[in-house]
Amino acid sequence: MSKIIVAIDGFSSCGKSTMAKELASEVGYIYVDSGAMYRAVSLFCIQNGWMTQTVINTDELEKNIKSIHIEFKTNAEGKSETYLNGKNVETEIRTLEVANGASRVSTIGFVRHELVRQQQLMGTKKGIVMDGRDIGTVVFPQAELKIFVTASPETRAQRRLDEMTGKGEKANFEEVLANVKERDDRDQNRTESPLRKAEDAIVIDNSNLTREEQRQILRTLFDEKTFS
Ligand code: DC
Repeated sequence: MSKIIVAIDGFSSCGKSTMAKELASEVGYIYVDSGAMYRAVSLFCIQNGWMTQTVINTDELEKNIKSIHIEFKTNAEGKSETYLNGKNVETEIRTLEVANGASRVSTIGFVRHELVRQQQLMGTKKGIVMDGRDIGTVVFPQAELKIFVTASPETRAQRRLDEMTGKGEKANFEEVLANVKERDDRDQNRTESPLRKAEDAIVIDNSNLTREEQRQILRTLFDEKTFS
């Protein structure tokens, strides 16, 4: 059975990564969280003092873009973790500050260009499930299976809030909802590779789906592509 590329795009906090990770582990494919790569670039800018609330030092970032090396390694529990220049940054990149920065750095053309290049290299042997915003449209327009995941902003904000409170972080619903909407707006309206559904992508609205229902839908679609 030949291997395929699975591209999963969609809005933030709509469960893309859960779906992508589960499918990859079930079928023995590599899972790549492309959002983690934009988060790693955001963290890199913060660490170097190149990002304030209003400005990003794009000159410094551009000069140093080739010195940003992002890898994924599987930990002892089988979970994929993000490494930035050899250091495990999986926890650090999940904060709201880094997420907001990621949404900003992801609007910069040379950042996208470099990360897309690295993502395409990861897919040369196929057998990969990658999630993000532009995977089916820009990174792998030739992907055999493309999924576009969506859910209402309120559903996504509640999920994000549950996740944050579960980790002991403080946040309130209105704040998280505003953040979800702000990121949607930026993701959809940026000039560089805005979030949009590829023409041949299959839409899954998971507002009212359980995790198991969504898992089964994706698995069926995968089987249809690989057994035909
Ligand atoms: O999926 P996420 O929330 O971890 O992504 C972080 C940010 O990176 C988000 O604002 C959208 C952006 N992103 C992107 O522009 N293109 C991708 N392929 C993945 C993420």
